[in-house]
Order: sequence, then C-alpha cells, then structure tokens
Amino acid sequence: MSQEIKKIALLTGGGDCPGLNAVIRAVTRTAILQYGYEVIGYKFGYRGLYNNDFVPLTLESVSGIEHKGGTILYSSNKDNLFDYLVNEDGKMVKKDVSDVAVENMKKEGVDVLVVIGGDGTLTSARDFSRKGVNVIGVPKTIDNDLAATDVTFGFNTAISIATEALDRLHTTAESHHRVMLLEVMGRNAGWIALESGIAGSADVILLPEIPYDINKIVEKIEDRKKHGKPFSIIVVAEGAKSKDGEVVVAKIVEDSPDPIRLGGIGNKLAGDIEKIIKENEVRCTVLGHLQRGGTTSTFDRILSTRYGVAAADLIKEGKFGNMVCLKGDVISCETLENVIGANKNVNPDGELVTVARKIGISFGD
Ligand code: F6P
Repeated sequence: MSQEIKKIALLTGGGDCPGLNAVIRAVTRTAILQYGYEVIGYKFGYRGLYNNDFVPLTLESVSGIEHKGGTILYSSNKDNLFDYLVNEDGKMVKKDVSDVAVENMKKEGVDVLVVIGGDGTLTSARDFSRKGVNVIGVPKTIDNDLAATDVTFGFNTAISIATEALDRLHTTAESHHRVMLLEVMGRNAGWIALESGIAGSADVILLPEIPYDINKIVEKIEDRKKHGKPFSIIVVAEGAKSKDGEVVVAKIVEDSPDPIRLGGIGNKLAGDIEKIIKENEVRCTVLGHLQRGGTTSTFDRILSTRYGVAAADLIKEGKFGNMVCLKGDVISCETLENVIGANKNVNPDGELVTVARKIGISFGD
C-alpha cells in the first residue's frame, strides 16, 4: 500500500533565479488546495535542512510572490550535506551529515522533500532519494543547461533582460560609432548569449561551444564598416574562449562545491580588439546578476507554475525520485538518476546557430 502523505517540505538551492517564488507558490497552493497537505519550507537550502530551520508555508505566506525574483526561502550554493564543513573538536572537517537531515525530516513528520535547484542541488536530491527519502526535483537555472528538460525556469527572464540590454547598447554604439560588447552569464553553455544575440540583433555572438579567432571578429567589424555600418554589437558568453585560449575565471569560491566563477572575457576581448581596430572605441558591459534579479517574465511565471503544480501532482501519484520537466509543450518527468550530469550545450551545427549564420551573424570562427 502506498504511503499516506500528510506533510511536505520545500527547499531552494544554488544561485537564485527568477521563478523560484512562483514554483514555491504553485507547489504550496496545489498541495494545500487540492491535496490537503501541510507544507513547510527549509531556509537557505540544504543548510536549513541540516539545522532544522524552517518556516510554515501557507496560502497567506505564499501570497503576492509570483512575480518576484529571488526566493522567500533564501538559498545557498555552498552546502552539500554529503560533504559538509563541520567543526569537530575545534577543527573544520568535511563530513557526510545527510543522516542528520533525514532524522530532522523524520522528527518533523516530513513525508516528501521538494528540491528546487540546478545540477548541484539536484545531485544531492538524487543522493537523498538513494537513501530512501521521497524526493521530487524541479529544474532551475538561468543557464538552461539541463539535458532532461527543454527549458529550465529562469532562462526566459535572463534572455529578456540580455536582449533589452543589447537594444539599449545599440543606441550608444550607433551614436558614437563604437564596438559594444555585452558579457552575459551561462557558465559553460552559450544559450543566453545565443538567444539574446539573435533577438537583440548582435553582429557577433561568442559561445563556449564555438571557440573564436579574434581576426575573424575584426574582419566582421571591418566588413560592416565597408557596408555603411561603422558600429558593431558583440555578445559574449562568460564561458567563451579563443581557439588557442582558456576560459577567463573571475574568482574561485573555495568553500563552494562548484568553486569556479567565470567572468572577465568581455573586458579582455574589448582590450584585444581595440589594439587591432584603432579608429573605434571598444567598450564592454558586464550584465552580471541583473540577469537573475527583479521581476520574473510572463513565460517563466507560467512555466514555474506548471512545474510547481506538476511537482505536487507527482507527490499525489507517489512518483518519487523524479524531476518535473518540459518536453515540447508537455510537462512530464524524468528520473533524477538520468538527470544528473547530463548537461545540454549549444550544438554548433544546430538549427539556431544555422539560423543566425544565415542572417549574417558571425560566431568569430
Ligand atoms: O548558474 C547560474 C549562474 O548565474 C551562472 O550563469 C553564473 O556563472 C553563476 O551562476 C554565478 O554564480 P554566483 O551567483 O555565485 O556569482
């Protein structure tokens, strides 16, 4: 006989992302209104689960949050309970403290844990599932780099903001005959750069998946000048690299499970291009966390709501160990075992790159 579910818990892990609040709201509302579950939320991701630090989630507490970026449950991208920094006799050591989390859930009578996060957070979700915890995953990341789903929530908001930034950079580029670079996020995947670049009429798009040659970029800029366009717009993914170069690392966050923070390629490239093209000023704008903050796009609010409702439905159906996902226009699910480590990168020969090339966009290759 399947277990009777009375109480569920939510947590948000990893970097914040537009749509987290909309998922929290949708899971909570569906859980309460349709299935009569009690709902709590652990604060600061897995850290809250370890410290038994939680808040009740009610129809009132999730009211008025659908459009807001960030997460009312707070988040952490440093806390992996399977490899957690603890103080033991005055010494900081890494330990597997996942049993403490399981005990905390038992103590509180939590029957199911809904984990809303990207690859790192969902890896722990899978590991808790392997320990026998009833887990449901919801795929979050502005990078859109999870293979198991066509789209992660947060991505649409990020590309909308990047596209608007490109629109705004166009006016200065045109007025001053400048080369304007926009550096966008995405880690080792070029989705944000590719889609905002097409939508924002970029002349050059630089992706981690297609290493660039600076001479080809300069050729494109010079060719535009010959055709009466003395300015150019370049969008560069933070993970882009030249044919003979390495990614540019902004910082190493030592206590993070994924310590490398990319960033800096835009300014480096602006300097390199300016050395070759003397008659145009080259400027770089780094969009940074603006891509993740503020108001959630309409698409992401709807996708997040669909994911949240689907997560609550999976609980009702007892389909644990799964992550909700979008395939085409259909919400379905995929086992966490298959989701983890399966990343999705831009296909250099894929349709979107081909479309961009056909309308004359250069990839610097
Ligand atoms: O994964 C989301 C993301 O915003 C990446 O695009 C970016 O590289 C990284 O997180 C930035 O991390 P942080 O918020 O820790 O600076």
